[in-house]
Amino acid sequence: MLNWGRDHRGRRRGLVAGLDVGSTKVFCAIGQVNGKGELDVLGVGQHSSAGVKSGLIIDMEECINSIVNAVHMAEKMAGVTIQDVIVSVNGSHLQSVNLSVEMGVSGHPVNNGDVRKILMQAKASQENQAFQTLHMVPTGYALDETRGVRDPRGMHGDKLKVSIYTLLSKASPIYNLSTCVARSHLEVSSFVAASYASGIASLVEDEMELGVILIDMGGSTTSFAVFHEGQLRHAECIPIGGHHVTMDIARGFSTTLSHAERLKTLYGSAISSVADDREMITVPLVGERRGDSVNQMPRSALVSIIKPRIEETFEYVKGRLLKIGGNVFLGGRIVLTGGASQLAGAREIASMTLGRNVRLGKPLHLGTSELSQNPAFSTCAGLLFYGQQERKSHLQSLSIKNSKMALQQVTSFLRKIW
Ligand SMILES: Nc1ncnc2c1ncn2[C@@H]1O[C@H](COP(=O)(O)OP(=O)(O)OP(=O)(O)O)[C@@H](O)[C@H]1O
Ligand SMILES: [Mg+2]
Repeated sequence: MLNWGRDHRGRRRGLVAGLDVGSTKVFCAIGQVNGKGELDVLGVGQHSSAGVKSGLIIDMEECINSIVNAVHMAEKMAGVTIQDVIVSVNGSHLQSVNLSVEMGVSGHPVNNGDVRKILMQAKASQENQAFQTLHMVPTGYALDETRGVRDPRGMHGDKLKVSIYTLLSKASPIYNLSTCVARSHLEVSSFVAASYASGIASLVEDEMELGVILIDMGGSTTSFAVFHEGQLRHAECIPIGGHHVTMDIARGFSTTLSHAERLKTLYGSAISSVADDREMITVPLVGERRGDSVNQMPRSALVSIIKPRIEETFEYVKGRLLKIGGNVFLGGRIVLTGGASQLAGAREIASMTLGRNVRLGKPLHLGTSELSQNPAFSTCAGLLFYGQQERKSHLQSLSIKNSKMALQQVTSFLRKIW
């Protein structure tokens, strides 16, 4: 195994690593950005997650154990040792805030410095001991009365105004995550909202441009991110996921969680079919020795347990989307990803409840890599893409003269100041 040591040589060699700390699994992926700027996946590793619930750490030792094992597995497969990781953040503590900031710019054409200054002002206005900014996206500029200015640089006016979308995270879950990562002998290079990462991985450019809602159905969360004009516009997390379906089945059938999980993945569906009453499934009962006592149940009984929970989940999402209001919900299609999106019928229920076209999404642009095989890996794949983008904008900002820097490069410094 090559050991790049602790001197940031990994970063210099284009290594990027993502760590998705989920409630069902902790997943680590290591990639390398090659000379053409493309991402090659070198290794992946996962470990069951017993220390996380609804995106929050509930047992630090368990969480550290899962991180260490997942990272070790990925390092072994990749043949490298990583030093820093891009880490996912999830949970109902995430908060979206839209704000606008104004600044006087009379007497000179607007320049890079003005754009930086106004964005710093916006950042300062959000700073707070209890919340940290995860993502900050300038959504529009105005100069005096002229709205919809794409790039204000070089233009004259008295007052520059910028509208900004910010995604905040409660600070304490971030500290807890940082502590677990540090105690696993790693550094956090960036924190990224899980649903945002899943979107980066599984959406095509046109979807992001025209408007799309990405819904990541995980073990104990359902998180969603709204994209429009190529940018993140909203993100939120609901504490209901695939594990709740499993618990409903275990309770309803008086069976163990592991049997319930098996029944769900093998025979489960959120929509009924005509054959469901005839198809019988075998349910081992809880507390009975293996094979001693089983129930024969029609598959329709399983569907009648699963369906209401999935409907409830999408109703919840719909309620949240309607609350955001505006044109956010008027956008195009919906893309479902995350492990629990594999449940038969989830797509149909989503389409009926939310009244949109729905497709299932998996990580894209990763060829035949293991990472591209499963929707449960979308978040981690997105963390790698995030690292790839960060790297690209860093290299571009080194090679493009300051005065000609694209607006994106000017604003990309925002990522570095958190
Ligand atoms: N084939 C399948 N059919 C139905 N559900 C499935 C299937 N495969 C996995 N799941 C469910 O997916 C869930 C785990 O998804 P995922 O791995 O995305 O969760 P996670 O990222 O660890 O959790 P979270 O994002 O909530 O923190 C589990 O509830 C599991 O039962
Ligand atoms: Mg997840």
